[in-house]
Amino acid sequence: MALSDFLKQLDEFSASAVEAFGRCGDAGSLESARIEFLGAKSGTLRALQKQLGTLQSDEKPQGGKRFNEVKREVEESFKTAAARLESGESTGGAAKGPRFDPTLPGQAFDIGHLHPITQTIEELKDIMGRLGFSVADGPEVEDERHNFEALNIPLEHPARDPLDNFYLSVAGKDAKGPLLLRSQTSTVQIRVMEQTAPPVRVISIGRVYRPDTADATHYPMFHQMEGLLIDRHVTMADLKTVLRLFATSYLGHDVHIRFRPSFFPFTEPSVEVDMSWGDGWIEFGGAGMVDPNVLQSVGYDPEQVSGFAFGLGVERLCMRRHRITDIREFYRNDVRFLRQF
Ligand code: PHE
Repeated sequence: MALSDFLKQLDEFSASAVEAFGRCGDAGSLESARIEFLGAKSGTLRALQKQLGTLQSDEKPQGGKRFNEVKREVEESFKTAAARLESGESTGGAAKGPRFDPTLPGQAFDIGHLHPITQTIEELKDIMGRLGFSVADGPEVEDERHNFEALNIPLEHPARDPLDNFYLSVAGKDAKGPLLLRSQTSTVQIRVMEQTAPPVRVISIGRVYRPDTADATHYPMFHQMEGLLIDRHVTMADLKTVLRLFATSYLGHDVHIRFRPSFFPFTEPSVEVDMSWGDGWIEFGGAGMVDPNVLQSVGYDPEQVSGFAFGLGVERLCMRRHRITDIREFYRNDVRFLRQF
């Protein structure tokens, strides 16, 4: 064989072996490439070594020198590729880290969801919206006029006891007297009637605060849904009908509603609202016909209009729906509980 052909073959061998080792992405393919190019029995290098013997004797030293150079080059490039795979890098210049396996199952993202009470609030708004009630809002920090006075709760009334309310030490800018965290959403009745002429048909859902010790059925903060309907000739039958329609929508069809006589300063007559599914009565809140004194305090004429109001516990509704037995679960923020809704 002519020396020039031999040297050309050496160059080709070197180029393709270096290229192949550099392309290998895992130990298996590197090993096949090693056998192909450097294999002791039938690798290309071995074949070239045999060719070396066919050169004319005066060309052998030059051919042999170049052969040894190429051999070192290729072995070196094999070692580099092996070290690269060892260190976890897949191909030359590619990003570090394990190779992407498209056949593995995907990773599901935990995207979370709304808190059960928030979900309940959305659903209550939806149901009451279908009954024609729009949504009103009021502040959680209230003055005594909206939390008590306009609701016909006079100064000496026990409901205003500092031990039964969260009074704040800061004074209101415009309000006379101290501020407090509202103890009931009935405050929004006043705010709505102050701003709109009758007829009125609103609900308001939000947080209320009472200094109760937390137990399975009490929490110092909870939510109420207040309802207020003012129009001509509104009666207690309308109140019962609206509550029944609401209860069947939210809690199911075989619900019974019971009114027990009660007292609230802002309604007359007043009732406690109980519901039953044939398994005993549960109290959900209070209701009644809006007291003429309240209508007067916002400038309505009690001779012209009448109305009903109700206030239901949102947690209680949600607890009944989902058979939750401890109100504290809502506010422990334990995902094992929250994840179920
Ligand atoms: N505000 C009353 C309470 O918190 C509930 C209620 C609302 C009663 C409206 C009558 C009318 O207990």
